[in-house]
Amino acid sequence: MQKLLIRLFYNIESHHRRWALIGLCLLILLILGRSTTYFSTFYYSMVDFDSDRGAVAPPTDICGDHISKIVYLDQGWKESDSLWFYNITQGSDLVPIDFFLVLEQDQSTELFRSTENMNRFRYLPQKKTRSNPYALPVGMVENTYRGKKFMGFTCAACHCSQVNYHDKGMRIDGGPSAADMDAFMQTMDKAMEVTLNDPAKLHRFVEAVRKMGNYSRESDITGDLHIYWLRLRAYNYFNQSLIKGTYTPLDYGFARLDAFGRIYNRVLGHLLEPAEIENALLNAPGQAEQEPLSQEKRDQIKAELKPFLGESDRDTLEARVLDKLPQELQLRLRGAVFNSPNAPVSYPFLWDITLHDYLQWNGVAANAGEGPIGRNAGEVIGVFGTLDWVRKPGWSISSVIGGQGFGPTHTSFESSVKVHNLRLIEERLSALRSPTWEDASAKAGLPGIDWTKAERGESLFATNCAGCHANVDRESPSRRIVAHLDSVSKVGTDPQMADNSVKYVGYSGIIRNLYANSSVGNILLDTKAPVVALLTKATENVVATPDPDKWFFTRGADWAVDLIDELRLNPIKASVKTGIYDPDTTAQPFASVESYKARSLNGIWATAPFLHNGSVPTLYDLLLPASHLDGDPPDMKYRPKTFLVGSRELDPVKVGFKSENYPDAFRFDTSLPGNFNAGHEYGTRDKTLPGGSVQKALSEEERWDLVEYLKSLGSKKPGAAKSDPPKGEAPKPQ
Ligand code: HEC
Ligand code: HEC
Repeated sequence: MQKLLIRLFYNIESHHRRWALIGLCLLILLILGRSTTYFSTFYYSMVDFDSDRGAVAPPTDICGDHISKIVYLDQGWKESDSLWFYNITQGSDLVPIDFFLVLEQDQSTELFRSTENMNRFRYLPQKKTRSNPYALPVGMVENTYRGKKFMGFTCAACHCSQVNYHDKGMRIDGGPSAADMDAFMQTMDKAMEVTLNDPAKLHRFVEAVRKMGNYSRESDITGDLHIYWLRLRAYNYFNQSLIKGTYTPLDYGFARLDAFGRIYNRVLGHLLEPAEIENALLNAPGQAEQEPLSQEKRDQIKAELKPFLGESDRDTLEARVLDKLPQELQLRLRGAVFNSPNAPVSYPFLWDITLHDYLQWNGVAANAGEGPIGRNAGEVIGVFGTLDWVRKPGWSISSVIGGQGFGPTHTSFESSVKVHNLRLIEERLSALRSPTWEDASAKAGLPGIDWTKAERGESLFATNCAGCHANVDRESPSRRIVAHLDSVSKVGTDPQMADNSVKYVGYSGIIRNLYANSSVGNILLDTKAPVVALLTKATENVVATPDPDKWFFTRGADWAVDLIDELRLNPIKASVKTGIYDPDTTAQPFASVESYKARSLNGIWATAPFLHNGSVPTLYDLLLPASHLDGDPPDMKYRPKTFLVGSRELDPVKVGFKSENYPDAFRFDTSLPGNFNAGHEYGTRDKTLPGGSVQKALSEEERWDLVEYLKSLGSKKPGAAKSDPPKGEAPKPQ
């Protein structure tokens, strides 16, 4: 073989030989580059196998929870899988990592990242392990972008939880976080501001950062502290959540975030052209109590914005503009450009998500083909990916793939988003299983399942619930999850999340005049467009752009391999949405998204509070009507109007978290728009069926039977044959 190659080489004419040699070198470099990517990823995924998975028991906290031991349930992941998931970067850059490591709290010299403080925001404390050298909480990770090291979030910050029972804490991988990210951001903003303004704090900060070795000059440290503080402050300011139609804040509290509202705003802030900011400020209607703009104010706006015209550092543009404007104009800018993220939702759980047909609470994200990468890239855009979106002359392969055509200029959508890791995360998630009650009983002492009750509950579920909630065998390799979508008007739960996701509009900015896909045809992105279409287009372009941080030679190859692998390995193919929802039409191209998704309920016992907006504290409460109707019997029970969120202590009877007697927890008030707890009242009242017969409401005993069945999903009745398929298993894929 060797001889053959050498003979072949010498038979090539000499002037071609040079090219052959260059070609061969390039090929070797490519193979080398690709194997570096492959082996570094492989090594990183194996390197950390700490037997506790880094978990430490948090100290006694504001809800009085106290545990002495942490256990893991069998979810199909080994130690190294959990630790990889907790520490793999997705490309999020919140602040330089040195800053996060040494920042003090605003009111004391305690570190902002202290275990107590992180636990206060309900992030999960971790000890130092190989892949987490700074002992950051679950999901806070180091990310390197263009030579700078940042602290950012990864999936696990929002999709990993802990459920306590007496003295044991069960870590649930893929479980809904209890974090209050909004409070975390506000408090960190304050801590950075105080550091900038308090000379003693600033001195300590500068010295501590200098010691870390990544900065040497004081002016670089203070300059970066100022710019990253402005960026965070702008994020908090533009994302103020206001009760619909008022200027009163709607707090998210623990365990909720308006992910879409915030992602939308990050996209809008980064698409804006400076000229458009001026236009928006000059022409936007002011707030009710504001005077119309005087000529003097108009001139002031123009003068303030002049230095930004033609500016290309888009990642901090909105922050620097905000900094220049007086308060009244700041308000005007927020009203003119951004939408209030006032529809906080529960963090969903992630087991089985790679097998869903449609994802997100409103089913907006198709999971087929490159869907998962697009969805995750959109999330990184929202969660502090650095977005270096710049106008450049000519066209590029990425801009053509992103639908920008062959015009005289294009926008380059370079960013810190790590598409390669996003694909690997999806791959790893495909092995994650739901936690079972039975396993939790064995490992944390939960009371056992009453199988007689659970069996009665199973037939109640078949009659009342299985039409919408597919019952899926958690271990079957051929399982698929069909999301049953119900229009908001049908399911009747709080409409705000679904409404906002469809109705919010914004400036198209740098992607104006491009076309975004919808199920009824392409939509021209005019001066303003639905933000859902803008997000889709921006994300498409981000995914079409190779990682600027990769070695030049392998950048394109890695990128192509990732996209091809995603297509090749994703078992989900495009399919019609199931359920009873409004169809998309040319008049309302996103009507189908004004819906909520009924998911399969495996593992639901560990994921309170319930419904998309977390408005119902326990499974038992979900089986009660929301409020009084004329003719209700006097002893009728209703869902709680208010309850406390924040404790991780399981209530094994009603199945949710303890929600009483925690004075410092978050008081959830279901009377506020966004927090409504009505709707989804299946089985709670008598129902007249189409033929005229009456389906009786669930009796008290039946409710408890159903709760017992929901607890038991995924658990095996002692003595049951292992291969028993559960009733109503989702249809097998073809
Ligand atoms: C800052 C918090 C945060 C981070 C980080 C985050 N997510 Fe999410 N995720 C959410 C929230 C909130 C939702 C619900 C959004 C909605 O549908 O309204 C969500 C929804 C999802 C869904 C849809 C689930 C369903 O049942 O429909 C999937 C899948 C998902 N995330 C996966 C990921 C992955 C994978 C990552 C990392 C690459 C990630 N998320 C990072 C907060 C986060
Ligand atoms: C007509 C369809 C339909 C029927 C019937 C139905 N559900 Fe649902 N279910 C939904 C939808 C849609 C949602 C999401 C609603 C939301 O979040 O606003 C949901 C949400 C839920 C949730 C909350 C999931 C979570 O992650 O928070 C639970 C639990 C649940 N349903 C249980 C049941 C039970 C038990 C029954 C039977 C008594 C039932 N459902 C009957 C459609 C249905």
